Amino acid sequence: MAWDTTDTLGKGDVVSNESLANLLKEDRRFAPPADLAAHANVTAEAYEQAKADRLGFWAAQARRLTWATEPTETLDWSNPPFAKWFKDGRLNVAYNCVDRHVEAGHGDRVAIHFEGEPGDSRAITYAELKDEVSRAANALTELGVSAGDRVAVYLPMIPEAVVAMLACARIGAAHSVVFGGFSADAIAARIKDADAKLVITADGGYRRGKPSALKPAVDEALSREGTQGVAKVLVVRRTEQDVAWTEGRDLWWHDVVGKQSPEHTPEAFEAEQPLFVLYTSGTTGKPKGILHTSGGYLTQASYTHHAVFDLKPETDVYWCTADIGWVTGHSYITYGPLSNGATQVIYEGTPDTPHQGRFWEIVQKYGVTILYTAPTAIRTFMKWGDDIPAKFDLSSLRVLGSVGEPINPEAWVWYRKHIGADKCPIVDTWWQTETGAMMISPLPGVTETKPGSAQRALPGVAATVVDDEANEVPDGGGGYLVLTEPWPSMLRTIWGDDQRFIDTYWSRFEGKYFAGDGAKKDDDGDIWLLGRVDDVMLVSGHNISTTEVESALVSHPSVAEAAVVGAADETTGQAIVAFVILRGTADADDAELAGQLRNHVGTALGPIAKPKRILPVAELPKTRSGKIMRRLLRDVAENRQLGDVTTLTDSSVMDLIQTKLPAAP
Ligand code: WT7
Repeated sequence: MAWDTTDTLGKGDVVSNESLANLLKEDRRFAPPADLAAHANVTAEAYEQAKADRLGFWAAQARRLTWATEPTETLDWSNPPFAKWFKDGRLNVAYNCVDRHVEAGHGDRVAIHFEGEPGDSRAITYAELKDEVSRAANALTELGVSAGDRVAVYLPMIPEAVVAMLACARIGAAHSVVFGGFSADAIAARIKDADAKLVITADGGYRRGKPSALKPAVDEALSREGTQGVAKVLVVRRTEQDVAWTEGRDLWWHDVVGKQSPEHTPEAFEAEQPLFVLYTSGTTGKPKGILHTSGGYLTQASYTHHAVFDLKPETDVYWCTADIGWVTGHSYITYGPLSNGATQVIYEGTPDTPHQGRFWEIVQKYGVTILYTAPTAIRTFMKWGDDIPAKFDLSSLRVLGSVGEPINPEAWVWYRKHIGADKCPIVDTWWQTETGAMMISPLPGVTETKPGSAQRALPGVAATVVDDEANEVPDGGGGYLVLTEPWPSMLRTIWGDDQRFIDTYWSRFEGKYFAGDGAKKDDDGDIWLLGRVDDVMLVSGHNISTTEVESALVSHPSVAEAAVVGAADETTGQAIVAFVILRGTADADDAELAGQLRNHVGTALGPIAKPKRILPVAELPKTRSGKIMRRLLRDVAENRQLGDVTTLTDSSVMDLIQTKLPAAP
């Protein structure tokens, strides 16, 4: 059933002229734990240092790395927006992530605790990782890959994914990791655009209790036009399922890598040597190959991992639950943690296999101290119930991170209470594939946190909110998030398309990087992210953020998840349509609940933000990285033919939603 209400604005409702972006009040505050603050890696002084001398600050962070030739020039911005950071410095990224820790006497430290979905596990020390990366680097060289080439990586979440990335970095080849859930079409498009010479894949990986094949998609991709540049396919054996074999092209990883020498001398490359090309799907058009380079990228990935997670490599056990196919996996599984000598957990599978407590079982088993995950996962855990994490010992945890989309205040508070024992600071980290590393985030030993806000640009980062005319908005105002100074881990261009790089990011506001996100500043000047600007709704001339209406809905006890869209409306321009997943006990046929939810949003945000229609659904359409695809929900709300559903995790979700709905009025 669906609830419809045509009286979004009752006669007596007063619409204030003040921007609605400011009406959601969140007064809860959480001070950093005293012991963490007392021993924090980074204190408030860092903001002062960076403010006094931003480039000097980044030059100092670059010295956390080991350079073969120390850079003398920090930033060359003579040809904006094409930046060169540390351009006369030379380094080897893989040496920084592996060898130097072994040389410093930490060879016996575990780098990776691998937990396979079926329950198999492996601990890999830094000394072992060095040998394996060296063997893989020797193998790539033997197969004809050299500095400047591209290698496509299509692997499950197994240690070889990290080894493959580091082996490329070690020989100066750029990797292009393609998420293991993507189709042959997506692989072919990326191989073609990046002109990859070699593909590293696996027979399959474990997913929801079953082996799930990967190689057939690579075989199919390589039968497509434009992929002939791929001479060899290196195949890791993981599931032992049958694979088709192309003689002369396909090679087993264990044969080719296994026989190599574990000795490999890392060559130093220029700081601007390409490190990877990672494709962002974007909402429209051809995927963009985001290019990241070496010295600046590693400087910021490493510094932010050290600062934002307060990583103590001798004692912490860090776990980022992202997939290596996303930038989060690149920066906060491979490059950030390993450059800092961290011990980390890598988990292959899904959070509900074989049971819904799997994540908490892993935290307990390895004594995880720092956990980094996404709001979509947190909302799922909320839905599954508080009793599940309560069965496990989570007392090792000390810092919790969030990334990927705005975290609703209720999810934030739940995360802190049920996972963080009401003591762990939560760091809500805003950044993008394009920014390469975190940009806006609290610091766990410094910031008094606010549920739902990423708060403040990190030291050395310049972010603000501007209006349509590029004027900075005052505290309390709303508009567009922009970055006003170059930063070390910024994308250098879109692979093969400099013009698109300029048009997409640097043309909306002169001299500023346009992130594509709506944001507001609160009265303290802290930043609140409001979702992609394409998702902002315009109701009776007022900009209303989907994120804020969703957060208001989720703060009602009957709502587990919500997705809000603006649908064309004759009287108001757009009308708010809310898709909600109800909590276990709530009744989807209870017509009164609709009224309650509308009033609840009205109280939180003002009458104009009351949804016109509230539609209870069983699931929401999400991309494979967990983001809600509002575009498809807009199609439903406006009674249109559905757009492209190929990037959905589960396209049957849309059928389910559509069959539940009556025709829109
Ligand atoms: C977009 C970038 C950052 C790595 C994973 C996603 C949204 C990301 C937050 C956050 C609010 C966030 C933004 C951004 N986003 N983190 N903490 N609060 N929004 O990388 O796929 O390139 O997506 O994700 O909309 O622009 P991505």
